[in-house]
Amino acid sequence: MDKRPPAITANQLTKRFGNFTAVNQVGFTVKTGEIFGFLGPNGSGKTTTIRMTLGLLKPSSGSVEVLGIRVDGNAARMRPRIGYMSQRFSLYNDLTVMQNLHFYGAAYGLRNTLLEERIEEALVMAGLEGRGKNKTRDLSGGWRQRLALSAAILHRPEILFLDEPTSGVDPISRRAFWDLLYHLVSTPVMNADKKHTVTVFVTTHYMDEAEHCHRLAFIQHGNIIAQGSPAQIKSEVMRGQVLEIAPSNAVQAVKVLRDARESGKLPVDEIELYGSLVHVVAPEIKSHEKTIRESLKNAGIDPGQLSIIDPSLEDVFIACMKN
Ligand SMILES: Nc1ncnc2c1ncn2[C@@H]1O[C@H](COP(=O)(O)OP(=O)(O)OP(=O)(O)O)[C@@H](O)[C@H]1O
Ligand SMILES: [Mg+2]
Repeated sequence: MDKRPPAITANQLTKRFGNFTAVNQVGFTVKTGEIFGFLGPNGSGKTTTIRMTLGLLKPSSGSVEVLGIRVDGNAARMRPRIGYMSQRFSLYNDLTVMQNLHFYGAAYGLRNTLLEERIEEALVMAGLEGRGKNKTRDLSGGWRQRLALSAAILHRPEILFLDEPTSGVDPISRRAFWDLLYHLVSTPVMNADKKHTVTVFVTTHYMDEAEHCHRLAFIQHGNIIAQGSPAQIKSEVMRGQVLEIAPSNAVQAVKVLRDARESGKLPVDEIELYGSLVHVVAPEIKSHEKTIRESLKNAGIDPGQLSIIDPSLEDVFIACMKN
């Protein structure tokens, strides 16, 4: 059992804008030292939840504690111990790499030798040694994200909030960014002369990134609809089995199978295109295999290989969002 107090505890956190409820009674606990992923479609309430957690937005009701501090009214006390990479880009494009780091370091209260040391370390971590004089706007998206992450941790925060840190970044750069995150959570930091384990709270749309989180929460229309480790979510939340089909024409196969479902011949839950494959989800998928093969053959499509597979997080996410 982990006896450390949780890094973040949200209780019935709610935000209304006029009559519209953007975040509805959201509750979650983030353990110290974990990477916690917050997933949801556009407009589902991720940024609003982060802003309430950081004390930047007052909840309509509910409460949140960060590092054991109740955020309401105490945000100033908690802020030196957290880092935030906001969704809208936080670096100044007109400044050089070095000037951005100086700006953030000074804003976090770092001075003199300590500031210089931390900037040197940040440049190494971001892989930007020797590029301190480059204008930030000239860096590619992936390098800018790494620089923004390095800037957000100059003051060695205990919790790092990252709001879609890798959106619009290519897969190789995303991988490099995640390697940095793993490195961060596995390396204790010194803050206020004490050693701390780093915790990461990250929002993302990328399912491959979600697989890399220790635990996840799915949010939809402001409500948390699933929560747990990726393995737990896959085994507990997903009620159906997934049949993967490799037909000769996947796009056409989806259409044919959906028509069969419409007509009542194929009572399954999901029929989704996965690149050149098709995933069909139903509680007892084996009992539908014959109908699937026949429907495809009748439409002149070779059904190819049919195999029951473990659901991916994407299967689970799509199933959850449709319920
Ligand atoms: N200040 C505000 N006033 C009114 N409505 C708002 C305000 N801020 C957010 N909203 C609304 O609340 C909902 C949730 O927004 P939020 O930015 O939290 O979503 P999100 O999950 O972060 O989306 P995205 O993936 O696009 O970043 C949206 O419908 C948004 O339009
Ligand atoms: Mg957002």
